[in-house]
Amino acid sequence: MKYQGLTIGVPKEILAGERRVSATPETVAQFVKGGAKVLVEAGAGLGSFFNDDAYRAAGAEILADVREVYAGADLILKVKEPQFHESLGTHETQFLRSGQVLVTFLHPASPGNHQMVKVLAERGVVSLTLDSIPRISRAQSMDALTSMSTVAGYKSVIMAANRVPKFLPLMGTAVGMIQPSQVLVIGTGVAGLQAVATAKRLGAVVYAADIRPDAREQAKSLGARIVDLNIPEELAIGAGGYAKHLDPEWLEKEREALRETVIASDIVITSALVPGKEAPILITKEMVAAMKPGSVIVDISIDQGGNCELSEGGVVKEHFGVIVDGTKNIPGTMPTSSTAMFSKNVFNFVENLVADGKISLNLDDEIIRETMVTKDGKIVHAGTLESMRLRGEI
Ligand code: NAI
Repeated sequence: MKYQGLTIGVPKEILAGERRVSATPETVAQFVKGGAKVLVEAGAGLGSFFNDDAYRAAGAEILADVREVYAGADLILKVKEPQFHESLGTHETQFLRSGQVLVTFLHPASPGNHQMVKVLAERGVVSLTLDSIPRISRAQSMDALTSMSTVAGYKSVIMAANRVPKFLPLMGTAVGMIQPSQVLVIGTGVAGLQAVATAKRLGAVVYAADIRPDAREQAKSLGARIVDLNIPEELAIGAGGYAKHLDPEWLEKEREALRETVIASDIVITSALVPGKEAPILITKEMVAAMKPGSVIVDISIDQGGNCELSEGGVVKEHFGVIVDGTKNIPGTMPTSSTAMFSKNVFNFVENLVADGKISLNLDDEIIRETMVTKDGKIVHAGTLESMRLRGEI
């Protein structure tokens, strides 16, 4: 059997407000069916509405002490990178041991995580990060970043609709026609396209902007009107078809092209990002000041610094009568859907990682190679090493 002899550990997430869990009773049952032993920390699924009995029924063993989960497992599945465990007074990295395999979102290139990654390496942990899964067709079912962007794009519009002081759709009422709200989505990658689709479903008039022609085409096919940014294709598209970071002069032109539509919009959703870079500032303070009071900006790119000059991570604040929403971890607020998607991504990732009950770290496999962060006491992740070098840390 595929997982015979393998023990998998599922700790409860400890980041404040994190309600997701890395395995559901459904995926646990699949692991168990394949011969795995699964250890789940008591209460690990409660935030996503799965109780311990559901995991027991799926064949898991429930352990009250998370240290026993770590001690007994060959493979640890998590959602978030290791954090300081307040109630046990130690960092989660200290529960991991040499040769043990950790699969989670590590965001290892982010400077705030460099120290944690160094500790993982020092402890000899084999860590694999789900935020580096290559966007190739074989890896689509494992692409947790795409799943979470889908959730964030959808929820961002619901959050904005909840705050905006008017209807989104055109309403025919006894007192006459009420005009629909206008929504602008800047950056129509995975998250942005989902935002466009959601705003359309709610009946808003939707505008979209992106520097990549493919992304614009997809937004258009979902019914959005396209804002012409006039950025030459050769400046906008780089290797692998990804967007390129624009230089300050072109960013200024882009802001100018966006200005009129931003000001006329009731809701602006921003999700413009070039992988591995800081998010470009596309909405300035001056543009926010010119917007209608009561309008709402939800800045999904906040983890990379945000697309609006005024947004702050984890803060919802009014500026000039406009609400600027920098909510972090939006998928964590929709745990049933995000856990369902995330746990399936993780299951598919593990399925590719394990052969004959053993974890096979086959570096010829692009998915394993690209996601590997630490192994044999070393940091092996290119983006992390580059970021550490740039900061003179190695
Ligand atoms: P993606 O790479 O699929 O899409 C980004 C889009 O931005 C691309 O279509 C790209 O062409 C476009 N873009 C780049 N530079 C631009 C510019 N100057 N002007 C206009 N468009 C530009 O990325 P994805 O997966 O959609 O993620 C988008 C953002 O959402 C990221 O910042 C990601 O971290 C964030 N996110 C946030 C979450 C949260 O909880 N706040 C959860 C999930 C994702």
